[in-house]
Amino acid sequence: MKIAIHKREDSYSDEWIQYCDKHEIPYKLVDCYQSDIIETLSDCDALMWHFSQAVAKDLIFAKQLLFALESAGKFVFPDFQTMWHFDDKIGQKYLLEAIGAPLVPSYVFYSKSDALQWIDETSFPKVFKLRGGASSENVKLVRSKKDAKKLVNRAFGPGFKQFNSFFYLKESIRKYKLGESTLTDILKKVIRLFYKLELDKFSQKEKGYVYFQDFIANNDSDIRLVVVDNKAFGEKRFVRKNDFRASGSHMRQYDKEIINEETLRISFEVAKKLKLQCAAFDYVYENGNPLIVEISFGTTPAAYKPCPGYWDSSLKFHEGAFDFCGWMVEELVSKINKKKTGNVAPDSISSL
Ligand SMILES: Nc1ncnc2c1ncn2[C@@H]1O[C@H](COP(=O)(O)OP(=O)(O)O)[C@@H](O)[C@H]1O
Ligand SMILES: [Mg+2]
Repeated sequence: MKIAIHKREDSYSDEWIQYCDKHEIPYKLVDCYQSDIIETLSDCDALMWHFSQAVAKDLIFAKQLLFALESAGKFVFPDFQTMWHFDDKIGQKYLLEAIGAPLVPSYVFYSKSDALQWIDETSFPKVFKLRGGASSENVKLVRSKKDAKKLVNRAFGPGFKQFNSFFYLKESIRKYKLGESTLTDILKKVIRLFYKLELDKFSQKEKGYVYFQDFIANNDSDIRLVVVDNKAFGEKRFVRKNDFRASGSHMRQYDKEIINEETLRISFEVAKKLKLQCAAFDYVYENGNPLIVEISFGTTPAAYKPCPGYWDSSLKFHEGAFDFCGWMVEELVSKINKKKTGNVAPDSISSL
């Protein structure tokens, strides 16, 4: 048995490697960007790759490589069920509606006339989002019909850039004030205004659709609840000053009491129903009721170090440190072992 791991900074991979070292699980480091990656993986049972929506190359082929391997019978993290909807809020809308999960009411239009008609009939404010992006970069409050129409004209005209260098500069300055960024980082973001990164150069314009959600008012924070291997843990993230957006704010709280039972129950249920290896659910609350704004298999491992413990699926809390990236390896190894002893095959695609 051998696992292949693609290493990336600030991703799950460092913890995966530590876990394999500690538990003497055979692994090899691989480079998924090489053309002969399939051949390289021929002596491995599984590939683990925490790819990112912020790496231009990953957006081009990470899903395709992982789907191809899974179709051929290898085990992968993330698998099809876990990541076909990654960085795709439109896909998530259909998926969560299809299983009756409590998604914030969401609306998508593929023609200008449909969008304009809806704008005339609906009330404002609403939240506008691009289908991809993280840290709130592509999420906006739309206060009036007039502003919504401007967005629609752009969506069915020149389109939107996915990555906004000014947003990153502003965020870097804000984080510097919080003690979470450096002057060097601010300088890098200034340079990025003039010298485009691969991400800025190669990403395509977003256009031909427009996506809105109802604005769920009076949330001074959101909750990110992560489920891995039937265990859950989470954080409260406060919104930025004079803003409604929490994602990426880096203003966090971790007390056990911040997570209510309903949030845990919904997250366990959706993760189980959709067979998600790892799912970070973002919630806002309307009259105390949790509503999902998005899901993602990828999150920042360091952000969960301060968690006081985790819940199991019977909602029992287990106090103390835990290694959720290790749980991902454990789950994969157990599937590989079951297959080797003839019990089970990769089931993500066949079960659809
Ligand atoms: N429909 C909504 N109503 C109120 N607040 C929202 C809504 N959608 C998102 N938010 C806020 O904006 C933040 C970013 O939205 P999200 O959809 O999670 O985008 P991202 O992918 O950038 O994290 C959330 O963390 C939440 O605080
Ligand atoms: Mg989010």
